[in-house]
Amino acid sequence: MAKLFLPVLAGTTRVQRKSYWAAKLVADVGATLEEVDTILIDPKDFYFPGDGNDPEGKDVRYSELTARADGFFIVTPEYNHSFPGSLKRMLDSELENYNHKPVAFAGVSSGSWGGVRAIEALVQSVREMGLVATYTDLHFPNVQELFDGQGSLLDESYRRHCIKPWHELIWMSKVLKSARESDNK
Ligand SMILES: Cc1cc2nc3c(=O)[nH]c(=O)nc-3n(C[C@H](O)[C@H](O)[C@H](O)COP(=O)(O)O)c2cc1C
Repeated sequence: MAKLFLPVLAGTTRVQRKSYWAAKLVADVGATLEEVDTILIDPKDFYFPGDGNDPEGKDVRYSELTARADGFFIVTPEYNHSFPGSLKRMLDSELENYNHKPVAFAGVSSGSWGGVRAIEALVQSVREMGLVATYTDLHFPNVQELFDGQGSLLDESYRRHCIKPWHELIWMSKVLKSARESDNK
């Protein structure tokens, strides 16, 4: 069976960002799983000149990746009890490419909540995009203590924590992919 293409989306473009390290860890763990083909989608590498999903507001590379994806794993930091604008702008640039595909979440914060409110805000939004939310969230609280200044993981237990949400995402991806394919027959 072909591998599932499940990109990991990083959530912010801030120069001093730390959630990128968590996103990289999630992608690295995904890449070790037999059924998964993944890449890390960094909003910094894409260009969304305006809001919305008009043709001139899209980045063709993001369009192609989302069209090909069987599901998504979003790693978002918490900004003012929600998720960052750069992630929203990137997500908003597409719509049909998300339809009936699953999405898993990791939240990141410098405090002890681990981005839980960012995930809750995202769940409301992705539902309107036609994405299907999984329920096994991953949290990176006190992110500045989990990685060193170069982004190396200091607490190896977090590598294990990544596995359960990946398995849930894989399961949902198979179910929804099979349903989408049988609809297209
Ligand atoms: C603009 C801004 C707003 C923030 N708001 C919150 C918040 O509401 N709740 C929280 O737990 N942490 C908040 N934080 C702390 C971030 O979660 C923490 O700095 C985290 O590292 C952000 O991810 P980043 O480093 O990838 O940008 C905020 C940080 C920024 C920059």
